[in-house]
This record gives sequence, C-alpha cells and structure tokens, in this order.
Amino acid sequence: MNTQKSSKFFVGSIITFLILFGLVKIILSTMQDIEKHAISPESMTAEAVEERIKPVAQEYVGEAPVVETAPVVEASASTGGNGEKIVTQACAMCHSTGMMSSPKLGSAADWAPRIEKGIDTLYSNAINGFNMMPAKGGNPALSDDDVKAAVDHMVSQAK
Ligand code: HEC
Repeated sequence: MNTQKSSKFFVGSIITFLILFGLVKIILSTMQDIEKHAISPESMTAEAVEERIKPVAQEYVGEAPVVETAPVVEASASTGGNGEKIVTQACAMCHSTGMMSSPKLGSAADWAPRIEKGIDTLYSNAINGFNMMPAKGGNPALSDDDVKAAVDHMVSQAK
C-alpha cells in the first residue's frame, strides 16, 4: 500500500516535471522568435539607431525657440495704463493668492488697513521693500513710477 502510493507520487512528479519543462521550452523559443524579429541586424546600424533616438525637437523645421532671460517686465518710461500689466506680470504671483500674507488683490478687507497708512507709505514700501514684500516686487528693472502705477492699480481694485 505504502509503496504503491509513493510510486504514484513518483510518476506524478515526473509528469509534472515534463509538463513544466515543455512550457519553459515553448516560452523560450517564443522569446527567441520575438528577439529575432525585433532586433534585426539592419536595424542596428549606426544610422538607424541615430534616427530612432534623435531628439524630437529636431523634427521641426525652423529656429530654436528664443529663451527669454531678460527681466520679467521691461522697464517703461510712461506709466499711463501700465499699472494693470505690471501687477499681472510682477506682483500677481504673490498678491493674487495672498501668499506670505500679502494683501490680496481685490480684497477690500486686506487693503483697508494698508490704504489707511496713506498712499505715499504704500508707494515707498512697494519701492523699497517691506518685511516679506521685496523691493519693487523683486523686479529692479521697474522704475519707481512703474511701481507706483502698480500700487495705484492694486489700491483701485481693492475699493
Ligand atoms: C514675493 C512676493 C511678492 C511680490 C512679487 C510682490 N509683493 Fe507686495 N507684498 C508682499 C507681502 C508678503 C506683503 C505684506 C508685507 C507685510 O505687510 O509685512 C506685501 C505688501 C505690499 C504692499 C503693502 C505695503 C504696506 O505698506 O502695507 C504693497 C503696496 C505691495 N505689496 C505692492 C506690490 C507691488 C506693486 C508689487 C509688484 C511690483 C508687489 N507688491 C509684488 C509680497 C509680494
């Protein structure tokens, strides 16, 4: 009884082994097939490889994009109507969200106590800096008049 059981087990494991072996063989030969087709010798020439890995940008005809390194905002001689543009370009990054507890654009509640200090104080704090408020919003290319125009615009938006 016991020997019968163990011989059954023996035969069973041989069959299992054969099946597994067959499977591995099939898988291996499939992989070799794929490899043969995927990496054909012609596709490995220097030109072919270069063609495949060349940067996408080179596909486009035309000049390389000019990267703007100049100050964010060009200094301007005139101030008329520039306030909004300057605020958008140089001040909004902080003031639109109230970042670092800056007075938020358009918020009367944030601006009321500032406006109380008088417009000249606001001008000079914006031009020279005030706590976390960088001088000229961190944009030295702006003229004093630019900054004043920006402050005027901010104040007018907060009323
Ligand atoms: C890096 C973020 C940042 C940028 C950019 C920035 N500000 Fe400010 N600003 C602040 C912070 C923070 C305060 C609040 C400072 C405080 O009350 O301690 C402030 C406060 C102010 C005040 C109120 C000052 C006062 O006396 O209460 C004015 C006016 C002002 N900013 C104008 C500007 C203008 C104009 C620009 C763009 C030219 C600008 N800010 C750009 C962060 C910024």
